[in-house]
Amino acid sequence: MLVAPSILSADFGYLAEDVKAICEGGCDLVHVDVMDGHFVPNLTIGPVVVSAVAKVATKPLDIHLMVENNTFFVNLFAPLKPEYISFHMEEEKHPHRLVQYIRSLGIKPALVLNPHTPPETIEFLLADVDMVLLMSVNPGFGGQRFIPSVIEKAKRLKALINKHNPQCLIEVDGGVNDVNIKELEKAGVDIVVAGSFVFGHKDGYELAISSLK
Ligand code: DX5
Ligand code: ZN
Repeated sequence: MLVAPSILSADFGYLAEDVKAICEGGCDLVHVDVMDGHFVPNLTIGPVVVSAVAKVATKPLDIHLMVENNTFFVNLFAPLKPEYISFHMEEEKHPHRLVQYIRSLGIKPALVLNPHTPPETIEFLLADVDMVLLMSVNPGFGGQRFIPSVIEKAKRLKALINKHNPQCLIEVDGGVNDVNIKELEKAGVDIVVAGSFVFGHKDGYELAISSLK
C-alpha cells in the first residue's frame, strides 16, 4: 500500500518541517489539496505556497484539484512538475481533452469521483489515465468520517480497470485509518491519502505511515 499524507492537516506555521518529516517518515507521495472556495466550501493553497512545499519535498507531489476552472489551475501548478494532477469529474465538461492536455505537459493525469459518482461514468476514460481517486468523504475538509460505500465502488472500479487498463492505480481519500485500510486493500486500492490520521498520530508521522503500510 502506498501512502500519501495530505498536508491539509499539517501545521501551516511549520509547513516545511512537516513536509520534510513525512518524506523522511517513509511516505510515497505528498498529497496537496487545492480548494477554490467555489467547487468546495473551503479555500486552501495556491502555487506560491506549493512551490515552497516542492522545494523541500523529497517525494513526488500528488495535486488534488477541488476547483471550478480546472484548466486554469492545471496551468498554475504544472510548472512545479508534480507526479499527478487529479481533477473532479463532477466539474469537467471535457475530461478526455483535459486528460490529454495534462499528459502533454509531462504530468500523469488522474480522475476524481465524489462519493455519489458511479465508477461506470469513467469506463471509457480509464485507458488514458494513470490513476483514479475515489473520495471517501465529501471534499472540502480534513478530519471527516469515512463513507463505507467506497469499498464496493473500489471493487467495481477495479474490475473495470482490469478490463481497460491494468496499470491504472486506485487511490482513496478521506477518513482513512489503520482499521478501514484493511478493507480498502482487499478491494484493490493501491494508494491511500491520510491527513488527520498521519498528522494527528500521537506516536509521530513515521509510525503512523508504517502502521498504514
Ligand atoms: C478532503 C481532502 C482530503 C483530506 C484528507 O477534501 O481531499 O485529502 O484532507 O484528510 P483526512 O484523512 O483527515 O480525511
Ligand atoms: Zn485530497
